[in-house]
Amino acid sequence: MERLDKHVSNRTGYTRSDVKQLLKKGSIRVDGRPETDGSRKIDPDTQEIICEGKRLPMGEHFYYLLNKPMGVICATEDKTHRTVMEFLPKGVSAKGIFPAGRLDADSTGMVLLTDDGVLAHRMLSPKHHVPKYYLVRLARPYEERYAQQFAEGLKLSDGTACLPAEIRKADAGYALVCLHEGKYHQVRRMLAAVGNHVEALHRVAIGGLVLPPGLESGSCLELFHKDVERMLKYVPTEGLCEQIMKNFSSYLINDCL
Ligand code: URA
Repeated sequence: MERLDKHVSNRTGYTRSDVKQLLKKGSIRVDGRPETDGSRKIDPDTQEIICEGKRLPMGEHFYYLLNKPMGVICATEDKTHRTVMEFLPKGVSAKGIFPAGRLDADSTGMVLLTDDGVLAHRMLSPKHHVPKYYLVRLARPYEERYAQQFAEGLKLSDGTACLPAEIRKADAGYALVCLHEGKYHQVRRMLAAVGNHVEALHRVAIGGLVLPPGLESGSCLELFHKDVERMLKYVPTEGLCEQIMKNFSSYLINDCL
């Protein structure tokens, strides 16, 4: 439990005296009702706090899972393209929120939007080896030799060495790739290195968290810290791939694979 005025001040950057004014004006709501008493104790994990029409994060940070549509870029702002920030739910302030990791503009699927820099670092640093899973549509038939080549650590056309990775055949014309690092255009370049070509790429899981099959393209799902912790936990690849394959047809319907 935490004092309401302290909580609002910490989450918004307003001073305690600013918060006092906002309370007086009725601009702060707790579970739907205007509150005027800053000393009131609230539980930030379960109670909804709205300040000037914007909802504050339930825990300490915001976490949103976006099913990124085609053509949208993973940046906080851009002059020409739509960015992932446009897909945050209405009423959520984008202040401090950024995409944790990147998908190419012409890739689709799972992107985490958060204001938690520490977690983003844990998720992205190659030291932590958090696996990322991609369903890809291939231009040419899948070949069994790819699995061995990926497992040995591929060399890309410019000489860049990749960490050992996994690839398996999915349905006809598709493969599932698991990487433990995130180099520029890595999946596309790895498949080019074995003589194939990626026509479409959809990220379906990060760590132990799988993209919910019903989450439509362009939709955002709010996650709690405990869900996000699941992203960082080791989950055996075998079980996760099985889960992804069970959802395979819904990823096809849902997006542009
Ligand atoms: N690898 C790629 O080639 N593109 C992505 O968007 C992500 C991984």
